Amino acid sequence: MNNSSIAPRHGGQLEAIATMFDIPATELLDFSANISPDGPPAGVIDVIRHSLEDLSAIRSYPDLESLELRREIAKYAETSAGNIVVANGFVPLLETALRTLTVKRCLLAIPAFIEYRNTLERVGVEVVPHTVDARRDFRYEPAMLFEGACDAILIANPQNPSGVIQDADTLLDIVHNASQRKVRVLLDEAFIDYIPSLSLITLVEDFPNLIVFRSVTKFHGIPGFRVAYAVTHQSLAAAISANLPPWPITTLAAMAAATALADRPYAERTREENQLRRTALVKNLEAIGLCAYPAAANFLLFPLPDQIPAEQFWEEMITKHMIVVRSCSNYEGLVDQHVRVAVRTRTENERLVLALQQCLSSVRSYLKA
Ligand SMILES: Cc1ncc(COP(=O)(O)O)c(C=O)c1O
Repeated sequence: MNNSSIAPRHGGQLEAIATMFDIPATELLDFSANISPDGPPAGVIDVIRHSLEDLSAIRSYPDLESLELRREIAKYAETSAGNIVVANGFVPLLETALRTLTVKRCLLAIPAFIEYRNTLERVGVEVVPHTVDARRDFRYEPAMLFEGACDAILIANPQNPSGVIQDADTLLDIVHNASQRKVRVLLDEAFIDYIPSLSLITLVEDFPNLIVFRSVTKFHGIPGFRVAYAVTHQSLAAAISANLPPWPITTLAAMAAATALADRPYAERTREENQLRRTALVKNLEAIGLCAYPAAANFLLFPLPDQIPAEQFWEEMITKHMIVVRSCSNYEGLVDQHVRVAVRTRTENERLVLALQQCLSSVRSYLKA
């Protein structure tokens, strides 16, 4: 892990990058954040415009129980409103779940979303990192997740940054094993909307040790509204909810998220389009010598050839091509030289591949010099 990085610690930080390189943010094409290029669903814009006409969404307090939103989530995720807790993003939910469960020692499968460790540490949880092997495509091996005498494990399906999806049987094995050992499973399904049939949400009533986290941000293209939810056993859902500050979600954000989730044709189209675009992008990356790990979501992770440092490559892509990729040099458990890119529209993906090809050859030439 590179600690002297100048790259922002998250993708999508265009303002900071624009300032750093003195380039207008509007001229940068962002492949660093994994947000669907097709979002938000059209109804989201309509509902926000309409709510501004009557003003009641602004002049009244939001519903304390977020009932409408939880009902819509329940329909979307095929569960019950009583199993759902909502908050303004994944991090506040994870933090509240950790405090509610009084987790002391958590196994963290890495490489992983950077805020996992930050959140665990902020709450005072001891982190036991467990590196999943890139040579085995980052697949989880159930038996190894229970080393280190932890009372919780934090995993993701699909994973970020690799985009790798784990099959349902392996995950079931993990949850089952954890249940017998009285270990909590904190499962982040932030990108499962791309393959919803592999979600574990249907198991939460049978396995009270399981909490599934999801975000209504990337797939629906509305990260600015900050809406996430956790699905777990009803009694735990009520306890987590009681530990959250009141009104975590604004009325406008709740309306936007509910409208986005209700648009099933949008979800179908997004899945189909993403699959086609991702397959084409994988092929075009291979053609220029970049081999992505097998991914199921809307982003791809690949190692750079010839020991090219990711951050140098990231900088060259910005300054020469106005394209922001995700330098993965700050991911714990991942060797440097890894870059992650989002799957965007076909034209944008083609522009990306051309820029990557040119960038590879220019960086190679001055590394040789
Ligand atoms: C794997 C993963 N989980 C959760 C999140 C957080 O999503 P949000 O804060 O929008 O709820 C992210 C954001 O990048 C992520 O990559």
